[in-house]
Amino acid sequence: MPEDFFPVPQAWAEGAYMDRGKREADYARSVEDSDGYWLDRAGRLDWMTPPTLANESSFAEADFGIKWFADGVLNVSVNCLDRHLDERGDQTAIIWEPDSPDAEPRRYSYRQVHAEVCRFANVLKAAGAKKGDRITIYLPMIPEAAFALLACARIGAIHSVVFGGFSPDALCGRIQDCDSTIVVTADEGCRAGRKVALKSNVDAALKDCPSVKSVIVVKATGGDVVMAEGRDVWLHEEAEKVAADCPAEPMQAEDPLFILYTSGSTGKPKGVLHTTGGYLLWASLTHELCFDYRPGDVYWCAADIGWVTGHTYIVYGPLANGATTLMYEGVPNHPTSARIWQIVDRHQVRTLFTAPTALRALMKEGDDHVKATSRASLRLLGTVGEPINPEAWRWYHHVVGEDRCPIIDTWWQTETGGAMIAPMPGATDLKPGSATLPMPGVVPQIVDSEGKVLDGATEGNLVIAQSWPGQMRTVWGDHDRFFQTYFTTFPGKYTTGDGARRDADGYYWITGRVDDVINVSGHRMGTAEVESALVLHESVAEAAVVGFPHDIKGQGIYAYVTLNNDDEANDELRKTLINWVRREIGPIATPDAIQFAPGLPKTRSGKIMRRILRKIAEGEVSAQALGDTSTLADPSVVDNLVANRQGG
Ligand code: WT7
Repeated sequence: MPEDFFPVPQAWAEGAYMDRGKREADYARSVEDSDGYWLDRAGRLDWMTPPTLANESSFAEADFGIKWFADGVLNVSVNCLDRHLDERGDQTAIIWEPDSPDAEPRRYSYRQVHAEVCRFANVLKAAGAKKGDRITIYLPMIPEAAFALLACARIGAIHSVVFGGFSPDALCGRIQDCDSTIVVTADEGCRAGRKVALKSNVDAALKDCPSVKSVIVVKATGGDVVMAEGRDVWLHEEAEKVAADCPAEPMQAEDPLFILYTSGSTGKPKGVLHTTGGYLLWASLTHELCFDYRPGDVYWCAADIGWVTGHTYIVYGPLANGATTLMYEGVPNHPTSARIWQIVDRHQVRTLFTAPTALRALMKEGDDHVKATSRASLRLLGTVGEPINPEAWRWYHHVVGEDRCPIIDTWWQTETGGAMIAPMPGATDLKPGSATLPMPGVVPQIVDSEGKVLDGATEGNLVIAQSWPGQMRTVWGDHDRFFQTYFTTFPGKYTTGDGARRDADGYYWITGRVDDVINVSGHRMGTAEVESALVLHESVAEAAVVGFPHDIKGQGIYAYVTLNNDDEANDELRKTLINWVRREIGPIATPDAIQFAPGLPKTRSGKIMRRILRKIAEGEVSAQALGDTSTLADPSVVDNLVANRQGG
């Protein structure tokens, strides 16, 4: 047996929902009898009117559109809460672990979450919210974040969660784009012992957001805030004034559930829209198949609710399945590197789902912090967000999981709603670094740059050939952009923007983005966004941003900046520009390196040749690595760039 192959352990092969044979048969039916398969699978949800229609989608320009279960009617909060009350009303739905290890964790039963959500929903209604209205949620990782999502779902309002690390400007842009009428926030967030001034960020953002009529504030830290008369209210005060009971709004399967902004290769972030029936089915089914969830297990997805992973795998998937889901307010390595493992022991976590960047940071600290804890409760380990390097995979498997826990490497995107290519613990032999095989109904293909489908063991662009229930439905306010972005590069197919290799066993190995999107610590960033922020500074004439390999973050941000006046180039301005980007977008966009460049490599038609900039940032500066530079308008700029490269 070659070393890089981990067969399904016997106990898993016998005890899991899916074994190899079942997975193969299930997959075959999901593509051969797609509608029949999906109407059966839809039965795992509670419908007010069950659907009789399944897939009515088309990727072709003539009749383009994504539509699933269109005649079905349901409510997401009923599926996540009400339907569990009889059987497991007193079971813990949410465990909340605070930032500080000295503070008390909180537990909410399904009945308690249901009560909180109903009151919250009535507070939203009292603030004027109606079905279809957009509500922006800008909260830390506190239980109210989960309540807020479900409260919107209960009344049919569309939530748009903005990650609490984003700046007031970034928040403002996301509120304006979807014309939110209500913002839900907290006085402050608390991460790694530091306070984050969320409410005052909202105040700054709202100077330019006339659509917002009401701000609902959660008292989280008790920090000082300014409340605007007639606009801002405290959640806990309003909750006392409203009824305890809130009937759930019947929603068509294709009614919107949420918008989540994500970065693309061009322009401003796109509002990815997910709808009700298909998304919830995808969240629930993939959560069960990937993590083999069993009643009573404690399941922990260590993501933030501000990203799609938090939506699908902290809130919607686990709660639809009646799980106990753990929410952690803080960061994995604060106050010490042992924190994450201590939480596993404290709450007897069975499944841990985290990102490669966190694992690499923890791995760097040695094994002692891990070995100082028991982790005997762990049965399954998941990863998501970026390609996991085989060293980190092996460390996770051997040191963290003591060779006993399958590693579930889930490849997917904000656009896909949930896992697309991933192992199932009882069914899939593992290879470190491979996300393995497609989920039911997912038809991946690898195509060359002309769009020709490549068979067998090969490498190229990863596309998906047909719709699946969790697929995004549109870009909010710009359906044409949805079509242009995802369905025109390779007509008739969904373009993922990722490259992939397929080996002789049919396993997929994601090689990373093939477009101008970079992945910094599992956070997706458009190079164009960082460039736009840089050129807003008065000293900057032009900027070009690329990713480069980074030991911990996966990719770092490298910015080439042309100044209006080259004489201003100094370390002081470098620092100023780094802080400028942090303030414009948020700390996740902090450039790792800024190189002042009197000229950028451009073709005669003025297009920046990023290929060359990427090579230089990577430290590949030989003539061979840089390739043909003869088509540049001024080939000599390359020598200057190579000579002034930043970093080691
Ligand atoms: C991009 C999507 C998936 C939810 C969190 C990120 C990269 C994600 C993996 C993985 C290799 C991965 C891809 C993808 N990615 N998971 N397991 N292996 N790459 O969602 O912010 O929409 O980013 O993250 O490049 O396109 P996102």
